[in-house]
Amino acid sequence: MTSKDPLLQPYQLKHLTLKNRIMTTSHEPAYPEDGMPKERYRAYHEARAKAGVALTMTAGSATVSKDSPPVFNNILAYKDEVVPWLKQVTDSCHEHGTAVMIQLTHLGRRTGWAKGDWLPVVSPSHRREASHRAFPKKMEDWDIDRIIRDYADAAERMKAAGMDGIELQAYGHLMDQFWSPLTNTLDGSYGGDLENRMRFSLDVLSAIRKRVGDEFIVGVRYTADEMVAGGISRDEGIDISRRLKDTGQVDFLNVIRGRIDTDPALTDVIPVMGMKNSPHLDFAAAVREATGFPTFHAAKIPDVATARYAIAEGKLDMIGMTRAHMADPHIVKKIIEGREDDIRPCVGATYCLDRIYQAGDAFCIHNAATGRELSMPHDIPKAEKSRKVVIVGAGPGGLEAARVAAERGHEVVVFEAQSDPGGQVRLTAQSPRRHEMISIIDWRMAQCAAHDVEFRFNTWAEAEDILAENPDVVIIATGGLPDTEVLKTGNDLVVSAWDIIAGDVKPTGKVLLFDDAGDHAAMQAAEIIAESGAELEIMTPDRSFAPEVMAMNLVPYMRAMQQKDVTFTVTYRLEDVVREDGRLKARVGSDYLGGEWGELAKERIVDQVVINHGIIPMDEIYFDLKPHSTNLGEVNHDDLIAGRVQQEMNNPQGKFQLFRIGDAVSSRNTHAAIYDALRLVKDL
Ligand SMILES: Cc1cc2nc3c(=O)[nH]c(=O)nc-3n(C[C@H](O)[C@H](O)[C@H](O)COP(=O)(O)O)c2cc1C
Ligand code: SF4
Repeated sequence: MTSKDPLLQPYQLKHLTLKNRIMTTSHEPAYPEDGMPKERYRAYHEARAKAGVALTMTAGSATVSKDSPPVFNNILAYKDEVVPWLKQVTDSCHEHGTAVMIQLTHLGRRTGWAKGDWLPVVSPSHRREASHRAFPKKMEDWDIDRIIRDYADAAERMKAAGMDGIELQAYGHLMDQFWSPLTNTLDGSYGGDLENRMRFSLDVLSAIRKRVGDEFIVGVRYTADEMVAGGISRDEGIDISRRLKDTGQVDFLNVIRGRIDTDPALTDVIPVMGMKNSPHLDFAAAVREATGFPTFHAAKIPDVATARYAIAEGKLDMIGMTRAHMADPHIVKKIIEGREDDIRPCVGATYCLDRIYQAGDAFCIHNAATGRELSMPHDIPKAEKSRKVVIVGAGPGGLEAARVAAERGHEVVVFEAQSDPGGQVRLTAQSPRRHEMISIIDWRMAQCAAHDVEFRFNTWAEAEDILAENPDVVIIATGGLPDTEVLKTGNDLVVSAWDIIAGDVKPTGKVLLFDDAGDHAAMQAAEIIAESGAELEIMTPDRSFAPEVMAMNLVPYMRAMQQKDVTFTVTYRLEDVVREDGRLKARVGSDYLGGEWGELAKERIVDQVVINHGIIPMDEIYFDLKPHSTNLGEVNHDDLIAGRVQQEMNNPQGKFQLFRIGDAVSSRNTHAAIYDALRLVKDL
């Protein structure tokens, strides 16, 4: 029977039939090797194609020129050798009926000069972009001519790779640096009025058309409202939209609202957890109405209901569910099979996007198979033989272990000391802005319920309780407790960031928060302290505060705290705390001054000292069980890394395999705990 679901209706884009209305917009996960999309890249896109997405816009900022060096390991579209690699991606997606396009760009000033070929960064003005920091060269005529040629060459390569089309990036990159009066100070035919400022883009489009012909699909992903004084206004953006359409050389508009020259601005374009869903949907719809032209759009539309509404109401032609597909590649398949409730939700953590800048490649906070398609499964196959798996701890790692073991067909029992599942994630989700994190737990609980996992809440498991279960496999996922023992004296006078987040301790008077873990716990506690009206100083011995929180995730914290009484002190270390006159005297040193800091030590008189220094594992039960296990808790790292079965057998008298995961091993994060679980349990 043909579905009536608006999302599942085909869409005709010129000669190309897109089989439904769901696409992934271009998002460079930073998986290229030597600038080329190799096996890992192909496997990532193929997983989503196989599950039914209609169109995958590959890459993200694939770069057309040598003086546009990648900012986060983008594809080098200026090299001929890219063609065969891309062809493999294209062919494998086409096999599943998914259309494949690619985003091409010149980054202009949005990159750095001290890498790649060490060429000067260019832009239509000398004005620097705050995020990428390069002071650009103001472009000359020959820069313009050669970059137009580079675009056309790159487009031709994409056609040779069997792609269905391309999209030109024009928000924050060179094209719209020409458009915006804020970044174009050129005289002559490429600067001045809008017609002149658009000339570069139109020249690029003409050059591309000459190379790829009329049939090849060419779209533009562009800002139609920079939302800043002096920039491209909404009215001018609509004008730009019409002008693009009127060229007769563009086949679709992919609408962005905002700009990306600072972290806060980027976060408004790609909202993170706690920010409004679908904030620019109506704006994109207004562009569609004004132009009557094929319109695509994505910006935090993580749920199928909103996506369906957007298509049903005619707001868009194609809807981007990009991070949603990183969290669950099987969205379309699950819609078709009537299993929408099974979709692993994107919680907006934006661990994925923040990582491409800071850590190298994109991973989803709670889908450890994304980006690891060559070694980790999205579909968990059934085991040949059912075993009994006992798990201690129902935090994210324990629940992932339970889910995967249950999908393997094992009998699973989970012990949890608390009355509710979730561990640290439940704590995190107490802050309204981070409440979406609880879906990481809720989704796993629903999956476990569907597979008859047995939970024993309010049960503090001892080794005897586990032995009494006669398990084949035991997984210790007990997490840890905050470690506040960092001072020379006064450890008994401080509280932990968790105490504040949990609401067990109320912020009082003047507060010093010492954070050398640099993670969310400190920022969350800080936000609560600041909101309470307390005077707060956040101190870290690091060069910058909150390094583990990363760029986009820091934005909402700063927005909350910069309006309160908060100061930040970097490069100083809290040394000790003593009681004095009913208050606390905190002595502060510096790693930079080494052992000499004593004379120069600074003092703070405060009412409360809060420490954030990671956790100490709760591992007693692991060590109690170790002698009873066949592997004595040992994990073979080579097998673990390669995704192979664990076969250590150094205690043949043992009764079960024993593994320890997540923070029960050492203080890490949610993704690490979930990855530990998936890679150990997928082969049990
Ligand atoms: C890891 C990652 C990399 C991205 N890189 C690009 C890029 O290179 N070019 C681009 O136009 N958008 C990029 N995006 C933005 C997405 O295309 C999309 O606009 C954004 O994620 C919002 O849509 P969503 O809420 O459906 O994820 C990236 C997103 C992610 C998550
Ligand atoms: S890391 Fe967060 S935002 Fe990114 S895909 Fe996963 S759940 Fe979504």
